[in-house]
Amino acid sequence: MIPRQPPGKKRGGLGANSCKIRGEETCKRPLLDASRRGRFFYMEEALSLRAERSNDNEKIMSFMKGLKCRECGKTYPKEAIYVCEYCFGSLEVDYDYDAIKKNISREQIEDGPQSIWRYRALLPIDGEPTAGLYTGFTPLVKAATLAKTLGVKELYIKDDTVCHPTFSFKDRVVSVALSRAKELGFDTVACASTGNLANSVAAHAAKNGFQRYIFIPHDLEYAKILASLVYNPNLIAVKGNYDDVNRLCSEIAGKYRWAFVNVNIRPYYAEGSKTFGYEVAEQLGWQTPQHLVCPAASGSLLTKIWKAFKEFYQLGLIKEVKSKLYCAQAEGCSPIAEAIQNKSDAIRPVKPKTIAKSLAIGNPADGYYAKDAVFESGGTAAKAADDEIREAIKLLARTEGIFTETAGGVTLACTIKLIESGVIPKDESVVVAITGNGLKTQGAIRDSVGEPVMIEPSIKSFESILKEKESKMTPAK
Ligand SMILES: Cc1ncc(COP(=O)(O)O)c(C=O)c1O
Ligand SMILES: [Zn+2]
Repeated sequence: MIPRQPPGKKRGGLGANSCKIRGEETCKRPLLDASRRGRFFYMEEALSLRAERSNDNEKIMSFMKGLKCRECGKTYPKEAIYVCEYCFGSLEVDYDYDAIKKNISREQIEDGPQSIWRYRALLPIDGEPTAGLYTGFTPLVKAATLAKTLGVKELYIKDDTVCHPTFSFKDRVVSVALSRAKELGFDTVACASTGNLANSVAAHAAKNGFQRYIFIPHDLEYAKILASLVYNPNLIAVKGNYDDVNRLCSEIAGKYRWAFVNVNIRPYYAEGSKTFGYEVAEQLGWQTPQHLVCPAASGSLLTKIWKAFKEFYQLGLIKEVKSKLYCAQAEGCSPIAEAIQNKSDAIRPVKPKTIAKSLAIGNPADGYYAKDAVFESGGTAAKAADDEIREAIKLLARTEGIFTETAGGVTLACTIKLIESGVIPKDESVVVAITGNGLKTQGAIRDSVGEPVMIEPSIKSFESILKEKESKMTPAK
């Protein structure tokens, strides 16, 4: 993780031990520090000890040089800024890739913690991470039953329904944003959200002692409202859609010295999405899939997955980037997919109307870059109608035991269309990005999953419904 020894050489002590860490169990699982032989301690103690040590003799290396305009290339210091003052282009983190290359290896990454921080050298913080120590490194599930159902050979679900702690990929971006916000000296964090980001900022800010202001459209799914309120933030429901919320937040960010994760510290925040791509490549045995289908709202996740693959290639961690990327959007909000399908350069804003509220951004900040990433990869886009989204949610649940939110329904429904139309060949490898948990969007499928069978508390009552069921079943051959 932190390059203090030559690539490939096993680090002793903390680095080598800081692994196999997932949520609850982690805290109970003791780690053995080689330098304090015989003494057990826990993950957070391990990380603070490393920070302590680094202050004495081992300086933590940061490979972040500064910020750079994505359009004109003008460079800026690594502060809480996000727009180029010359051309109004958006700013991005600028890394010293030559130095990273000398200090990174597959073995060293594999030795790191089982969280997004195993890719610390490629993330925009100067010191040790302070937020999201258990976030990321989610399962890449080989989806054999679903693959058989769809008639494809090799299908994987990258399963961020179980991302820690708020069950969506947003925990990745927020971990990076809040670690950076602390370094920049902020005591208050804020965001404009379609729901999952709200949950994640609320939770991580609570854990890390920040004041928190969270802005959402007033008509979000109630589970997402509750799953923010429980962390006791200042939750502000704006009478408007996400694009109205976002506009308001840009104004507020100009007036108050808060770290707005997706406004003034967006260049750092957005880099967290790269970890989704890094993990896919590492989990496939240091290679990228032939096809990856990704949902898009602002278009940032898709853009950063593409960047992640290209960075791994540039650093010699993978041999080639062979992936085609596909943009998945709901029919009721598809400004990026529309531009891709029409081979157009312009992203036309729309007024969203879809059950996939987490993807309901009509004027996507990174739409232009997402479209370019798709074109560069040789992929395309697909759109899913609300009924197709519902069917895909149920299909994923009954074939793979994974309950996704509506965004995942969009992604799987689009994947099915791309396969059925022959755009994705059936004998090539496909990764489907499932980015959020279905328990948060239950209302979307409430009327289409049926009801439990009601019986009296007697064996007779049970056996009568069993008989009825058996009579409807075709006998096994
Ligand atoms: C579950 C889920 N998936 C995908 C996305 C799309 O992310 P992006 O805005 O980076 O395109 C979002 C955005 O909120 C989301 O909540
Ligand atoms: Zn510029």
